[in-house]
Amino acid sequence: MTPAIGIHDLAVATSRHMLTHAVLADRLGTDPAKYQRGLGQDAMSIPGDDEDVVTMAAAAAAPIVERHGASRIRNVFFATETGVDESKCAGLYLHSLIGLPSQARVVEFKQACYGGTAALQLACAAVARDPSRQALVIAADIARYDLDSAAEPTQGAGAVAMLVSADPAVAVIDPVSGLFSSDIMDFWRPTYRSTAVVDGRYSVSAYLDAIEHAFDDFRRLGGADLREFERFCYHQPFTKMAFKAHRHLLEHAGLPVTDEAVDAALADTTDYNRAIGNSYTASVYMALASVLDSTSDLTGRRIALASYGSGCVAEFLSLTAVDGYREQLRSEANRAAIGNRNPLSYSEYRSLHTDRTTAHDGSRASTGDSGGMYRLSGFEEHKRIYHARQPAFSAKVGH
Ligand code: HMG
Repeated sequence: MTPAIGIHDLAVATSRHMLTHAVLADRLGTDPAKYQRGLGQDAMSIPGDDEDVVTMAAAAAAPIVERHGASRIRNVFFATETGVDESKCAGLYLHSLIGLPSQARVVEFKQACYGGTAALQLACAAVARDPSRQALVIAADIARYDLDSAAEPTQGAGAVAMLVSADPAVAVIDPVSGLFSSDIMDFWRPTYRSTAVVDGRYSVSAYLDAIEHAFDDFRRLGGADLREFERFCYHQPFTKMAFKAHRHLLEHAGLPVTDEAVDAALADTTDYNRAIGNSYTASVYMALASVLDSTSDLTGRRIALASYGSGCVAEFLSLTAVDGYREQLRSEANRAAIGNRNPLSYSEYRSLHTDRTTAHDGSRASTGDSGGMYRLSGFEEHKRIYHARQPAFSAKVGH
């Protein structure tokens, strides 16, 4: 019989800088309440010139490797839509930065914000095949839209790393999940652009529609009733979206739609994303980290995870928090990663918004030092050069 499989450890990282929506609103002459109440956002993480998905991923994954070692990790699945190379996967840079074993399958996953869930599910499948092994799943992204566009206040950046194993210490992932996919153009980023193209209003209705269909599939396959879940972690491009989605699902299921019911279902799931903004693949797992790190005790309770990636794929999953999960958490470190960011002025933010990686002659030093544990120090002959402020922990095991 296949053992229970799921999340054995989970850690969060984000960029070292952030812009508050109060500053953005002031400069754009917008009522700050539009962002804070209308979108449900207080701030968004902004990466420095020496930060990218690799530095954030390393910051999230290093403590996991430090705690558990890397010798059982057979698969490293890196989900991102902000890849740093069209060929080499971002996960390979982590080998030298945090010390991963050579005997590992390292691959990048892409399907907009859904990529992290694809990686997580395939990690579960790999562990089911050999339960003595573990898989490291990383979801890391930078959400960047055009300046002065309606989507600008929904930017952000972050990474979540998860160790997937048999008999997990944090949460078991149910084998039953619901799926939906469809070829639509609600949000996309052509390879020649550093900012996404989006049909904002359409993307909101496409998200609701896809989650509804994924939930229906989940129910068709024998998944639990909505009333059996204690919390709902939604993909949060902006946190108000989670509230829209939950109202939509309740209505669809014929259940009463009250503010109290929605607030209770989403309690503590939006705190991290309110401060970070959209972290694409990482966003739904930021919601999970946020609720697990909260004061609520969810031992033995069911948590729904609703993942959506534009384009589009959606999946509805069920997790159960296991006995003793709270002792495994990294709540203080996760909160510190979010709480210790440097607030930017509007002009500093604008200068960091320009993506310089696509327009240089192959060699340059990064400008500024964001102060993170891992740095993209620059480029030499088109090679990205990373530095760690501390040596890789582990696990030269397997080298
Ligand atoms: P907008 O045109 O700026 O905003 O675009 P709006 O006019 O619709 O206002 C937003 C909300 O603020 C509304 O609330 C207003 O009423 C309210 P709602 O009616 O929706 O409940 N509002 C105020 N509230 C309080 N005080 C005020 C005030 N003024 C207005 N003074 C939009 C919003 C989301 C379209 C835009 O930000 C956008 O295009 N964002 C990017 C796309 C996006 O995030 N889509 C979400 C679904 S798709 C998805 O999640 C996938 C994605 O993550 C990508 C991936 O998969 O990789 C994006």
